[in-house]
Amino acid sequence: MSVTVRVPAKVNVQLAVGAARPDGFHDLANVFLAVGLYDEVTVTPADELRVTCAGPDAAQVPLDRTNLAARAALALAARRGIEPRVHVHIDKDIPVAGGMAGGSADGAGALLACDALWGTAASRAELLDICAELGSDVPFSLVGGAALGIGRGERLTVLETGGTFHWVFAMAERGLSTPAVFREFDRLAEGRDVPEPVASQDLLDALAKGDADALAAAVSNDLQPAALSLFPELADTLAAGRAAGSLAALVSGSGPTTAFLTRDAESAQRVARALRDSGTCRTVRTAAGPVPGATVR
Ligand code: C5P
Repeated sequence: MSVTVRVPAKVNVQLAVGAARPDGFHDLANVFLAVGLYDEVTVTPADELRVTCAGPDAAQVPLDRTNLAARAALALAARRGIEPRVHVHIDKDIPVAGGMAGGSADGAGALLACDALWGTAASRAELLDICAELGSDVPFSLVGGAALGIGRGERLTVLETGGTFHWVFAMAERGLSTPAVFREFDRLAEGRDVPEPVASQDLLDALAKGDADALAAAVSNDLQPAALSLFPELADTLAAGRAAGSLAALVSGSGPTTAFLTRDAESAQRVARALRDSGTCRTVRTAAGPVPGATVR
């Protein structure tokens, strides 16, 4: 017997970052949108905890207990006083270290899958609690759709959306480490007052209306200057996507994946072709959102 859970990637349509807190984290106003690029996590009974991964980026995925999927299985087993005797297999389509919550998706997926496999029947509240322990973006991977995350990004309010938004994602030649990008944010902010992070009302209204033009005018990412500072070539990818007629071009989360909002599925295909031809990125994908969060198949 095995259980498979499908979990979407995310793009941050707004990522407002406050000053570093005493615990090293940053308060955020983080507006997440789940998009239709998926990892699938399958759990099967086994003699002991084991993680495997397949997919184009599989070689970059750690298979030890630092993997968020392994940590999710361990966390649920510890709470229930059971042994985590499970093989967790990840079919990975979300870019690794890309700023699209691929690791978080695997954490949320493994948690939901183990809960079903072991019959532990955790409540939604407990699952969200465990997700927040695993990482700031993991609760959103469970919930999906669109949501505002405050605190570290883990305290979620679900947002209504009035339509589907069409995106193109350009994956970079290498990854970026999220802690390194936050450290660069701190370095660039030195000597400046960092305002409290707040969600943009224009952005929330654009999401609620399903208005791509209004959303394009309101998207923002406070981590973008830090990501560009560590990875200057991303400016060429952003420029190529803008020149191709995208409505908005921004770094996704801590990067280095770049995200391009387009008016419809057809223009997404056009922008994707232009980005592929530009030679400024490794691969290009299209995906629309919002889509549901982690779902048992
Ligand atoms: O929560 P998570 O483990 O995903 O965070 C990874 C790293 O990103 C943290 O160790 C921290 O350096 C940075 N981070 C942050 N503020 C947040 C979320 C993440 O500084 N709100």
